[in-house]
Amino acid sequence: MKLYKILILFSINFIIAVLSTEETSVKCGACMLVVREFEKAIKAVDPKKMTTVGSFRVDPKGNQKGLVEIPFARSEAHLQDVLEEVCEKSKKYTQTIHPVTGKKTYIHEEIIVEYKRIPGMSNKLHSACIDFVDDNDSEIIKFMQKEAEDTLRDLCHDKLGLCTSVDVSPFPDPTPNDDELDTPSYNDDLGNDEL
Ligand SMILES: *[C@@H]1O[C@H](CO)[C@@H](O)[C@H](O)[C@H]1NC(C)=O
Repeated sequence: MKLYKILILFSINFIIAVLSTEETSVKCGACMLVVREFEKAIKAVDPKKMTTVGSFRVDPKGNQKGLVEIPFARSEAHLQDVLEEVCEKSKKYTQTIHPVTGKKTYIHEEIIVEYKRIPGMSNKLHSACIDFVDDNDSEIIKFMQKEAEDTLRDLCHDKLGLCTSVDVSPFPDPTPNDDELDTPSYNDDLGNDEL
């Protein structure tokens, strides 16, 4: 009964916050989704996995360079595969208030568990994602091929200008794993409890 009341209070506060807050554009949300999902997909590949790519370039002395080995994770073949599926991830995204900037933004629901999905949002994000990938696929591949400190800012803000510098502020690190905590996490309780 008590938890139920807390949940209602949370929901009311959340709705008020949502209605009165500045919002990250859906185009920016699509760009951030793409970069975050690429980074996850790249991390999921064994860094020792290599692939051979053909190089037909000729050096100044007239010798063909031949074939080179590069890590599979950031190879064009892998990145193209990721690109094809990436917008499907929008179903797992939800809107929430950024804990640092106070701006309404888009985030994977596994990072923010205490808020409910806003209905209808994922369709909007999905079609913005499809448009973004169609329009800017070569830039996406180019940026994901090299490792950078903050690809989100580099691509979505500096290069494409789809996000403001406030939009690309990183989220604080997610709450630590359960096994690192002595007490059960309050956020987990709320996330698993359906109204
Ligand atoms: C692709 O990037 C350009 C900037 O180079 C931007 O103007 C355009 O809106 C982007 N396309 C989409 C659909 O987000």
